[in-house]
Amino acid sequence: MDLIYFDNAATTSIYPEVIEAMRDTLHEDFGNPSSVHAAGRSAKAKVESARKYIAKQMGVLPKEIIFTSGGTEGDNTVMHAASHQLGIRHFISSPIEHHAVLHILEHMAKQGQIHLDLVKVLPSGLPDMDDLKRLLRNSDEKKMVSLMHVNNEVGTLLDLEAVGNLCHAHNALFHTDSVQSIGHFPLDFGSLPVDFAVASAHKFHGPKGIGFSYIKKNTGLSGIILGGSQERGMRAGTEAVHNIVGMETAFHVLYQRMEADALYLKELKTYCLDQLQAAFPGTTFNGASGDIKKSTYTIVNARLPMDEKKAKLLAFNLDLQGVCCSKGSACQSGSEGGSHVLQNLLSAEQNKAPSLRFSFSAYNTKKEIDRLIAILVDYAKS
Ligand SMILES: Cc1ncc(COP(=O)(O)O)c(C=O)c1O
Repeated sequence: MDLIYFDNAATTSIYPEVIEAMRDTLHEDFGNPSSVHAAGRSAKAKVESARKYIAKQMGVLPKEIIFTSGGTEGDNTVMHAASHQLGIRHFISSPIEHHAVLHILEHMAKQGQIHLDLVKVLPSGLPDMDDLKRLLRNSDEKKMVSLMHVNNEVGTLLDLEAVGNLCHAHNALFHTDSVQSIGHFPLDFGSLPVDFAVASAHKFHGPKGIGFSYIKKNTGLSGIILGGSQERGMRAGTEAVHNIVGMETAFHVLYQRMEADALYLKELKTYCLDQLQAAFPGTTFNGASGDIKKSTYTIVNARLPMDEKKAKLLAFNLDLQGVCCSKGSACQSGSEGGSHVLQNLLSAEQNKAPSLRFSFSAYNTKKEIDRLIAILVDYAKS
C-alpha cells in the first residue's frame, strides 16, 4: 500500500540533493571545524559558507545566525537567555503557542523567575491586538513578547510587521517561533521588526537535529550552552557539519522552487478545502485554515460533521488505510489530553467532532486528496 503523507507540519521528507550533499560531507569533511589544520579548515569553510548563504536569504548578517539542534532548542535558548542575561521579568505569549515556547515559559514562571501573561486569542487563532496592547501598556517591567508566525496546528499567519512594531513601541523585545514559516515564505528579518526567530530544517526537507536561530545583533543575548567557542560562544559543541550542509542545501533547493511550490500548494489546499466541503457539507475549518489568505498554504485543519462514536476511530482508520495525518498535531496524537490549541479555539461541544490536520508539501497531489476523500466517505458510511 502506498502511503499518503499529509503530515508535513510534523516533518518533511528529505530532498535527494540534501542526502547527496550530506553523504559527500560525511565522506570528505569529517574534520573538526575548530581544528586549525587543512581538514579542520575545510569543514569550517563549509559551516561558514552555509551561514553566509542562509543569512543572505534571511536578509541578516552571518553573525546573526546561530546553528542549533532545531526549533525546541532555539525557542528554549532565547527564553532562558532573555530571562537570565537580559533580566527580562515579564513575558507575554499566547495559549496556542507550540510547547517549545509555552512549556519553558510556564516552567520559568513556576520557578518564580518571570511572570507570564497569555494574550487572548480570537477564533481565527490570531492574538487579540487590543488585549496585547493592554498587556504591553500596563507593564513597566523589562519585557518580551513571543508569538508564533505560523501556528503549527491551524496554520494562522501572524502579521509580524504589525505585532513587532507594537512591541517595539512599548519597548518590548519580539521573538517569533517561525519554525512553520521559514522555508515556506521569503522572510526578510533585516527589515522586519523581529529580534529573535527560530527555524528547524526537518520542516523544510532538510535533516532532523539541525536548525538555526536569528539573534539580532546588539540585543545582548549570548548562549546558554557553555564550553568551546563554537558559534562565537553562543552555542558550544562541535558543529554537525553534515547537518549544516544538509540544511543549507535544502535552502538552496527551496529558494529555487519557492514561488512555484507556493502556487502549486495554494491550488492543492483550495482543492482539499472544496472537496472536503463537497463530500461532507457542514465541515468547518479550525482557526484560519479555511482562509487561504489568512493561513499558510501548507495546513488544513478540518472539523468533520461526524458523531462522537465515529470520531473516536477516525484517525486510527485513516492510518490503517495508509493516510498519515494528525489529530490536532503530531505531539498530541496518541495522548489523552487533546490539542491545547483546539481546546483554546473551540468550545467543548465543537471539540466533540473530529478535527484532523492535513499538512502538505509539493510532493502531494490532487489524486491523493481524492483518495483521502474516498476513504473518509467509506468510513462515514460504514
Ligand atoms: C511551531 C513549532 N515550533 C517548534 C517546534 C519544535 O521544533 P523541533 O522539532 O525542531 O525541535 C515545532 C515542531 O513541531 C513547531 O511546529
